[in-house]
Amino acid sequence: MNRPTNSDGWRDTIVTQVRLEAEGVLSLTLAAPDGQQLPSWEAGAHIDVRLPSGTVRQYSLCGDPDAADYTVAVLREENGRGGSAEIHDTALVGRTLPIRGPRNHFPLHAAEHYVFIAGGIGITPVLALAREAARQGASWELHYGGRSATSMAFTSEVRALASDLSLASDLSLGGYLSLGSNISLVEGEPLDLAAIVSRAPAGAAVYACGPAGLLAALRESCGGAHLALYTEQFSADPNAARAAAQEDAAGEAPGQAFEVELARTGATVTVEPGTSILEAVRTVCPDVLSSCEEGFCGTCETKVLAGQPVHADSILNERERESGASMMICVGSCASRRLVLDL
Ligand code: FES
Repeated sequence: MNRPTNSDGWRDTIVTQVRLEAEGVLSLTLAAPDGQQLPSWEAGAHIDVRLPSGTVRQYSLCGDPDAADYTVAVLREENGRGGSAEIHDTALVGRTLPIRGPRNHFPLHAAEHYVFIAGGIGITPVLALAREAARQGASWELHYGGRSATSMAFTSEVRALASDLSLASDLSLGGYLSLGSNISLVEGEPLDLAAIVSRAPAGAAVYACGPAGLLAALRESCGGAHLALYTEQFSADPNAARAAAQEDAAGEAPGQAFEVELARTGATVTVEPGTSILEAVRTVCPDVLSSCEEGFCGTCETKVLAGQPVHADSILNERERESGASMMICVGSCASRRLVLDL
């Protein structure tokens, strides 16, 4: 078994292949330098990848969980923070990339039926989850939307999954692919989330990964429906996610400053509009931990002692959000004037 190379969990991997999966989407295959098997992982897991510049980014694993190597897929984000552009613009084959993990905040929970929904590059964890559901013999369906057929990665893997299950494949070039009644790929138009949700049987679990807009629309469609909803968001703009979450907080106008008391440190900081709690906390606690800073790795999870947090992460489920016991301070916000954190 390949071992981490140092005590904080990072291990070296070698990039053995870079492949163009779709317009703007590259997949990287990462292998242990000694050729041994990397640790196995569960569907929904992601890894931290340290790029040649030192930037750390999180990517969902999307290959075979029992394979010796790992596969991740990276969408070039024109308005991103530079990580995806670095991957797309650097000759990486043969380079060493340290990784950490896998960790899983998006695991498959037991359910009577699964509804998988993917928007764009969100197909990476969703494909792994659908494969796992198929492996378990569970009842499931998959809906995958993209802005164009050429930008949609892993469509052949989705078709292969359908063909493994002996589902009929019926492709119409208008951009809608229906594989039996279980799988649909929709190009250039929004997925009909309301119809998908209304058809879901009681006891179903909905797993969705995609951009903020798709997930917000899905939450709205699921409101009132007795479905378990699990989401993972890809966002190049954490500020936009935070602002959207604030807007969602009933009774509170977005863009207001609030105070955060750090109970153990004995300090209070003000979080101004447009900044994160994490940034404000760092002015007095520079060593507070973070990684993705986009709300999906869990590194910055912090206990809330008082106040009303507003969640914008893709880790906590509805029950955890409602309890208000903890929050991801990289993207979370506050619906009260004051928040007290266990820091
Ligand atoms: S740093 Fe990853 S969830 Fe906050």
